[in-house]
Amino acid sequence: MQSTGYGKEVNVKGWVRTKRGSKHVAFIALNDGSTIKNIQIVAEINPETEKTLDKIHTGAALSVDGLVIESPGSGQKVELQAKNIDILGPANPDEYPLQPKKHSLEFLREKAHLRFRTNTFSAITRVRHAMIFAVHNYFNDHGFYNIHTPIITGSDAEGAGEMYQVTTLDLSNVPKNENGEVDFSKDFFGKATNLTVSGQLEAELAALALSKVYTFGPTFRAENSNTSRHLAEFWMIEPEMAFYDIRDDMDLAEDMLKYLIRYALDNCMDDLEFLSKRLLDEEKNKKAEERSMELVEKLRFVLDQDFERITYTRAIDILRNSKPNKKKKFRFVIEGWGADLQSEHERYLVEKYFKKPVIITDYPKDIKAFYMKQNEDGKTVRAMDVLFPQIGEIIGGSQREDDYDKLYNRIKEMNIPEESMWWYLETRKFGSVPHSGFGLGFERMMLFMTGMGNIRDVIPFPRTPLNCEF
Ligand code: 4AD
Ligand code: MG
Repeated sequence: MQSTGYGKEVNVKGWVRTKRGSKHVAFIALNDGSTIKNIQIVAEINPETEKTLDKIHTGAALSVDGLVIESPGSGQKVELQAKNIDILGPANPDEYPLQPKKHSLEFLREKAHLRFRTNTFSAITRVRHAMIFAVHNYFNDHGFYNIHTPIITGSDAEGAGEMYQVTTLDLSNVPKNENGEVDFSKDFFGKATNLTVSGQLEAELAALALSKVYTFGPTFRAENSNTSRHLAEFWMIEPEMAFYDIRDDMDLAEDMLKYLIRYALDNCMDDLEFLSKRLLDEEKNKKAEERSMELVEKLRFVLDQDFERITYTRAIDILRNSKPNKKKKFRFVIEGWGADLQSEHERYLVEKYFKKPVIITDYPKDIKAFYMKQNEDGKTVRAMDVLFPQIGEIIGGSQREDDYDKLYNRIKEMNIPEESMWWYLETRKFGSVPHSGFGLGFERMMLFMTGMGNIRDVIPFPRTPLNCEF
């Protein structure tokens, strides 16, 4: 919906957000999704137009021919003086669920087929698009090649076993072998398969030939986590770089995140300002100290900070001596070295202690995946997690184990079936080099960019336990 100058005759199409008016004139706010800003249609009410105007309600689709004029009203520079209005698709006000009033985010989740038509979700959708575009831009500008990694796999990249099985077997009549176990040799691929939890392992194969690659695809986790930060299906950005050590990996992660923030500030300001107002409004009843930082200010703030880099051991020391730990305010009290960090701990470090993003490195090997490079101490691995305000972990990554024997032993130790990993192991046999990578959860990043509080609201069609509508 572009205004091309005063006095011009134009045609606009879109959906009615609101209609109001007086006896003689109707004001219709029309939006086609290209911007947060509506165009105001001014239509004279006379015996000729009355019938059509009467049938126009919130949600209807219109095609309007009219004259672009300077708007005498405040709030918009131009408006469209209607010459002819066609109702392309009416919306019955008694049935249309989205009324021109505030709806709760929970209500809108149940109307995900229509929520694109709200200001909030059209803004999020546009920011999401800009971020996808920016991700590809960033990597293209930095000499990375995009690779498509498989969605159906026969391996478990994270070794956590939280996978959705993929099968064409008849579930009411599953073939069994003589031991009474499911006979997957009869299945479509002749073996057990699942939806991928990460494209990393395949990305590593490509990095060990093309040097710098990335994959950006859907990943699936069958963990039964009903939190505001977990999805069963989410999108992950996974760069993988040969000849990078963990320090290079952290530098890239920080640089990429800052690029994405800068891109949003440069290209999505109208939507960010709208989302900022939405957040202020949502939090207006909260106490001052419980309110989030204003959205645009928060984005600028993170852009200006050097991320704090600390080891896991230091993080545990800080947490153990923290007030909430001593007063047992954490849900999971930190007893000592070896504990896994929960998002409450991550957020304490970021929001209360350092007051900026934090990168934690060198975690205990027992709480991390098999592929991470082992440190000399025999206890820790070269992992790095990036923690963000409001989110906690936004990136998980590491330098990869490039030593064949160490990797092989770790796979054995962790009871990972060797036959599902032979190809991965083989890259450590031939021309193995130090390499590193990470995974950025795209929806976690979207939470940060938009100030939304629930991950179900930054993906068009969320998949969570017991929820696969639309
Ligand atoms: O830490 P994760 O599990 O790491 C990996 O999968 C590695 N293979 C990545 C790599 O090194 N190439 O997941 C990476 C990120 C997390 O930091 C988080 O942002 C996001 O993915 N994530 C989720 N986002 C939404 N819902 C979930 N259930 C998520 N699980 C992880
Ligand atoms: Mg992780």
